[in-house]
Amino acid sequence: MFPKALLTRKRRRPEVAFVGGREEVKFRDVRLFLVERRMGKSRRNFLSNLARSKGFCVDDALSADVTHVVSEGNAAQELWSWLEEQGFRETHDKHVLHISWFTESMSAGRPVSVEIRHYIQNPAVDQRSCAHPSAKPESAVSPYACQRRTTLDNHNKIFTDALEVLAENLELCGNQGPSLAFRRAASMLKSLPAALRRLEETQHLPCLGEHSRAIIEEISECGSSSRVEEILNDERYRTMKFSQGNSSHIFFRQCKSLVCHSISYSSALVAGFLFYEDISKPVSRTEASALKIIVEEAVICVNPSATVSITGGFRRGKEFGHDVDFIIKTPEAGQEDVILPAVIKRFKSQNILLYSDLQESTFDLRKLPTHCFEAMDHFSKCFLIIKLKREQETDARAGKDWRAVRVDLVAPPLERFTYALLGWTGSTLFLRDLRRFARLERGKLLDNHALYDKATNTFLPAKTEEDIFAHLGLEYIEPWQRNA
Ligand code: UTP
Ligand code: MN
Repeated sequence: MFPKALLTRKRRRPEVAFVGGREEVKFRDVRLFLVERRMGKSRRNFLSNLARSKGFCVDDALSADVTHVVSEGNAAQELWSWLEEQGFRETHDKHVLHISWFTESMSAGRPVSVEIRHYIQNPAVDQRSCAHPSAKPESAVSPYACQRRTTLDNHNKIFTDALEVLAENLELCGNQGPSLAFRRAASMLKSLPAALRRLEETQHLPCLGEHSRAIIEEISECGSSSRVEEILNDERYRTMKFSQGNSSHIFFRQCKSLVCHSISYSSALVAGFLFYEDISKPVSRTEASALKIIVEEAVICVNPSATVSITGGFRRGKEFGHDVDFIIKTPEAGQEDVILPAVIKRFKSQNILLYSDLQESTFDLRKLPTHCFEAMDHFSKCFLIIKLKREQETDARAGKDWRAVRVDLVAPPLERFTYALLGWTGSTLFLRDLRRFARLERGKLLDNHALYDKATNTFLPAKTEEDIFAHLGLEYIEPWQRNA
């Protein structure tokens, strides 16, 4: 429950201490109150002053004039019973809102319009009547993946699997645009808290074009989609997806790089061919952890002050991946350029290196910000195939007691680490939407190197991923919620 002292203590201070104080009040119809509980006193002070500096009126006490109550981290039930105890009632112009409304407003420099997703629902009212504004389902789901929490708990697999087959087929045929539309639709469905039961439920959902809707309709009526079945049985699709003949190309695609110089290409082809069977098999979380120990050992041996973190799908909590991604943090400037060759050398001497493609850093601070997004970043990185010893069962055929695993290492300069970590954690679609959101909704440019504010022509510093979300006026999304 809310400590009564919280309010009593506040009341001892003059209520008008900050109201319309030194700062000029720009928005007269909005009067904020930030709930101290969970937010903490110092953060509350910081946010209150930030709002005041932007022309907002912030009350220290919950007076009758307050129009927007903002709370962070409180359970709706507790918050509402406290508010009701204070005699607070929600009306058409009094709102109880998540901190997201506040951060978005700070970022916009004005009170943004209140949307359904901003409300903290009063559970009691919700049970009593459906007339409550937040009972409306529409616009509850954002069209941007970076405003949705997508865990691995997918309640709509029957639809998303089908949409992803369509997307993949289009991609293999080179139709990137239409493919993305299906990927977006699948991604949005993955974020829903429950399975779709009726087609009408899709009415207010974003990211669904007429084609995606038709597929959903067909599956909900017939259990499957004829178009998807057709693709799954199509020779061309199967060849592209599963054939050994294309194995090296699959590996090449897996390499995430499109290095076009011929040496790289032909050795990648050979490596892809030689280790196809192994690298086309998913890598388990156990195998990823075993690799982390190997990578960590090599990195620390080369530079004892460097640290290794897992990124990519495994950081998002996936149980399997097509490779294992690691990011290396080096505290001394310049070390990021020498660490990877040394690590590769060590793997070679341990006789566990099957293939390596080292990409030296082309990072140049003066070339930032990048206005058009490039799929690859400029950091020093390498794409490897590593021999991983099997724990128990040996390969019956050849007495082979290891498997080949794809491993990617990236080593950004220290002051670029946070942006690189965010970028390499993915998912690809989550990051694509985060960058799109930054550009279209916030006038900011985000990539693996930096976050740039076009309005002020400044780079925005970030020590943690939370800082980047805060700069963008977004609620923080944990890595395991970025499986868009
Ligand atoms: P992956 O392709 O490894 O994806 O790239 P994943 O999410 O880990 O999936 P699985 O489990 O391996 O199949 C990881 C992230 O690294 C980014 C990609 O965009 C993706 O989000 N990446 C990759 C970069 O940001 N820059 C690069 O140069 C390469
Ligand atoms: Mn990966």
